[in-house]
Parts: sequence; structure tokens; C-alpha cells
Amino acid sequence: MNNKVYVFDTTLRDGEQVPGCQLSTQEKVMIAIELDKLGVDIIEAGFPVSSPGDFKSVVEVSKAVKNATVCGLTRAVQNDIDVAADALKYAKRPRIHTGIGASDIHIKYKFNSNYDDILERGVAAVKYAKKYVEDVEFYAEDAGRADIEFLARLTEAVIKAGATVVNLPDTTGYLLPNQTFDRVSYLMNNVPNVDKAILSMHNHNDLGMATANTIAGIQAGARQVEVTINGIGERAGNTSLEEVAMTLKVHRDLGVYTDIDAKGLAPLSKLIAKTMRMPVQANKAIVGRNAFAHSSGIHQDGFLKHAENYEIIAPQDVGVDKSDIVLTARSGRHAIKHRLELLGFNLSRDEVTELYDRFLELADEIKEVNDRDLVKLLKLPA
Ligand code: KIV
Ligand code: ZN
Repeated sequence: MNNKVYVFDTTLRDGEQVPGCQLSTQEKVMIAIELDKLGVDIIEAGFPVSSPGDFKSVVEVSKAVKNATVCGLTRAVQNDIDVAADALKYAKRPRIHTGIGASDIHIKYKFNSNYDDILERGVAAVKYAKKYVEDVEFYAEDAGRADIEFLARLTEAVIKAGATVVNLPDTTGYLLPNQTFDRVSYLMNNVPNVDKAILSMHNHNDLGMATANTIAGIQAGARQVEVTINGIGERAGNTSLEEVAMTLKVHRDLGVYTDIDAKGLAPLSKLIAKTMRMPVQANKAIVGRNAFAHSSGIHQDGFLKHAENYEIIAPQDVGVDKSDIVLTARSGRHAIKHRLELLGFNLSRDEVTELYDRFLELADEIKEVNDRDLVKLLKLPA
């Protein structure tokens, strides 16, 4: 089996759906260019039929992107597909992403329909999109809660109709990693033409399992991941690009890789947070402010002896300048000595011990001791 995992970024579509995160065409183009530089394989630029503004953004992103495939979302509706094809006409590599609800809940309550009708509409949409572009991705919305035998039938039928990728969204973020693994394995083993298409993971993070589920899907044979920078997306968000890219790098034993240039991750994370007005939580994996910060005495001592004691990724590998030793009331003498050395003060162990009680008193009071405060402490009280 192919060991490249294709990275499909949907920051500009699923990410941009978030209230308050809407982007102008100019901002979308600027971000798309950065995503292209980062090495993503597919950029989902928008949902062209949704508004004239989104249509224009997909047109402009299609013109600007040099390497990645540019994708537009549609429902399984002919007019959506016509509009998406029009918006993508300047793309070097266009992809139409069409689909329909596949779970019993969606079939009953969204479509008031049945398996045969849904299957027919899915197949018809793929065939219709194929008239415009070679590369057609089909999404089986709410696949995470779909009846697995129906999902297998649907997958087989849309591949037969020409789908190059079948997306299996866990739209509601419901699944557990072992369930994701079992469901993707089932499809890999029971869909006779599964080798003619790529299975894709599109996980939402309602239970905080989006990345774990995405990795489980890859382990079972999926070879495309649908992700966003900073995990931005509907409700609790989507799988975060940086988490998947770095998990596959750290766990080389999984035997798969992406073409993401990891050094671009932190800078792009900052750009997205700023442009989309959505700050990143401090403890966010890979790109949070504290992802490479050490604040307890035990950790600081171990880190200063050998970084790998407490870091599985070097910060420079993801575009962060350096790790951070934060001085708080939980810090130890080793960290204080180290910080003072960086500031040009070489103190003996006894001198640090003598300083330490005053340091703790101050840290209890002001929480985080900065360099200026620390230097002030060197001057003995009168
Ligand atoms: O979460 C989802 O099901 C989606 C589809 C439209 C692909 O975003
Ligand atoms: Zn989604």
C-alpha cells in the first residue's frame, strides 16, 4: 500500500465556517499561498454556491495556488456542482468535493429518505461532477454513525461511479479510535473496488478525539487526512494539521509520511490565529505558547540536563525559536542558575541557594518572575 498520506487542508472551508472567523478573498488567497508553501496536497478553498463572496474566493485561490489541488465543496445537487466547476476553472488541479448524509439519522431527519435513494443521489452527483473534472471526492456525511454495511455499499457505488477519494467524516466527533480503526478496516476488507480510490479521514473534535481517530484511520489504511491549522472548525473544531503531521513524524514506525514542511507550522499557526481572530490555547499541542515551556523544578532540571528528558520534538523542528524555562514558585535552583548565566551572572551553588528563598517569596507574590525581577533580586536588601 502507498505510504504517503495526502494532506487535505480545510481551514478555508470548515475552519472558516466558525462564527467570527470569516475571511476576505484577499486573506483567503494569502493563506492559500502559505498552505501551498507548507506542502499541503489539497486546499479546500470554499463552498462556491454558498455566497458570491465564497465563489470569488475559490476563483482567486484557484488562480493563485501553484502546486496543490484546489477543491470546492458541494452538496449532491447539480447546481452546486455547476457553480463549483465554474469557480474552479482556473485551478491547475481542480477537485469537486460532493456528497450527502449517510447515517440513519441524517437519512431520516435531514432527507426524509432511504438507503436506495441516498445511494442513487450520491452516485448521480459523482457522475455529474465527473463531467467537469477528473478528480471527484465523495463525502458520506456522518459516516461515523452510519450503518457500516450501507456505508460499504455506498463506498463501492461511488467508486464505481468514478470517485477518486471517499471521505468518511465523523461529522459529530462521536467515534472512539478503536471504532474508527474497525470501521475503516471493515471498508478496506469488504469494499471490492476500494483499491481504486483513497479513503479519507475527516474528524471533528467534539470528544477531543479528532487527531487520535485520524491516526487510527491511517493505521487501518486511510491515506488522506482532512485537517485545519490550529484545529479550527465547526463546534469543537476539526483535526489539527500540525498534530497529525508531527504524530506521523514522531512515530516513524507507522511507516507513513506527509510532505508537510514542519518548520512552517508555528509561523502559519500564528498567521491563522491572527487573521481569523481565534487565539490558540496556551497548552495546544505543537503550536500552543506552552508547548515547549517548562515550569516545574523537576522538569526544568531534567530538561536542562538533556532536552529529550522532557521533549519529544525539538521546537526548531516546528519553527519555534527555542524552548522556554518559565520561572515560577515551582521552579528549582538549576533553572535560576541557568537563567542568570544566560543573563551574564555566574553564581556558585551557595550563592543561588542564598538567593532562592527571596526568589520564592517574590514568585509566590507575582506568579512569574521575569529577567528584570530576577536581576533585581541579586541586589541584597539594604
Ligand atoms: O463534517 C463534515 O461532514 C463535513 C463534510 C461537508 C465534508 O465537513
Ligand atoms: Zn466537517
